[in-house]
Amino acid sequence: TKKIKVALLGVGTVGTGVYKLIQRRADVMVRTIGAQMEVSKILVHNLNKQREGIDASLLTDNWQEIVNDPEIQIVVEVMGGIEPARTMILEALHAGKHVVTANKDLLAAHGKELLDAAEEKHCDLLFEAAVAGGIPIIRPLKQCLAGNEIDEVIGIVNGTTNYILTKMFEENMSFEEALAKATELGYAEADPTADVEGLDAGRKVAIMASIAFHSRVVFDDVHTEGITKITSDDIAYAKEFDSVIKLLGVAHNTEGGIEVGVYPMLLNKEHPLASVRDSFNAVFVHGDAVDDAMFYGRGAGELPTASAVMGDIIDVARNIEYGCNGRISCTCYRETPIKKFDE
Ligand code: NAP
Ligand code: HSE
Repeated sequence: TKKIKVALLGVGTVGTGVYKLIQRRADVMVRTIGAQMEVSKILVHNLNKQREGIDASLLTDNWQEIVNDPEIQIVVEVMGGIEPARTMILEALHAGKHVVTANKDLLAAHGKELLDAAEEKHCDLLFEAAVAGGIPIIRPLKQCLAGNEIDEVIGIVNGTTNYILTKMFEENMSFEEALAKATELGYAEADPTADVEGLDAGRKVAIMASIAFHSRVVFDDVHTEGITKITSDDIAYAKEFDSVIKLLGVAHNTEGGIEVGVYPMLLNKEHPLASVRDSFNAVFVHGDAVDDAMFYGRGAGELPTASAVMGDIIDVARNIEYGCNGRISCTCYRETPIKKFDE
């Protein structure tokens, strides 16, 4: 059986899930793709950390061992942050390797540069896990809904804040305790300020708006407000009005331009987004042909996120087997003005 060698950059919450799924799906991949997938190297920061269930002989802290290994065809970036992730992805693409990433920080800031590099080298650069964890939303926006003029994408796209708000509402848990639990469960970013201040949701909104509206929306275009100013009085007030508070990401393509923002909103309990609890996310899309479509599922955590990464890895592997990489990765941007949020 042919082998497809994969390198993981990072084996934290998401990387561990991907490692497990590659083992779990090995036999199915041999049957469906006709190739054996193998993790051949794992880049980490700290070689001395104890890692249960991970083959320690695969660990390295030397990126050159990966990028210069001609047998590695797929690089899976699940380390996070801008640098060195950006440089490593660019070097991997320049070396002709296909890349799968879950890194919304990087895509929301440097997406075009990375997609251009992938296009130039006819490599795949896939990032389904970067928005809404396990929910398929990138491919639906890019492919399944491509027959539509999309004018609205709205949703709960941060699992940590949705978990915190759920616990504050339903169990009267303090913000601090709920954040600590979300971190323990692997939902929060390395710096959870990104979650609670709405930055992580803002990055996801920028990525979705870029794809849905065929534009180039970066994080700096997104107005962001988080949940840190929500008090127990706000929660009591919401309950009095039979409502909940949710952190929403909102993107509209209007005649005046694209408007993108993240902010907490009071929603009546009857509203479909009000019932999205815990670390679940949900995204509404409106298109001129499909009308309303809604996507729902786990927005964060080890296996839900690994599920999305794994789908991308399998797509790349299938493309390798059929010799058709680099066909669907890239978004063609057209210029659409971005409106200031309060205009
Ligand atoms: P994590 O648990 O903090 O794991 C990060 C991993 O990357 C660790 O193994 C770490 O090595 C390694 N790493 C970090 N910087 C490195 C460097 N400079 N050189 C080598 N290795 C480095 O992070 P995570 O939660 O898995 O998130 C990974 C990515 O997925 C991020 O982009 C995040 O935004 C995204 N994401 C996360 C979730 C989620 O639910 N957690 C969901 C969707 C997307 P050590 O182990 O040695 O420290
Ligand atoms: N920290 C992110 C969240 C991880 O809570 O939604 C998933 O992108």
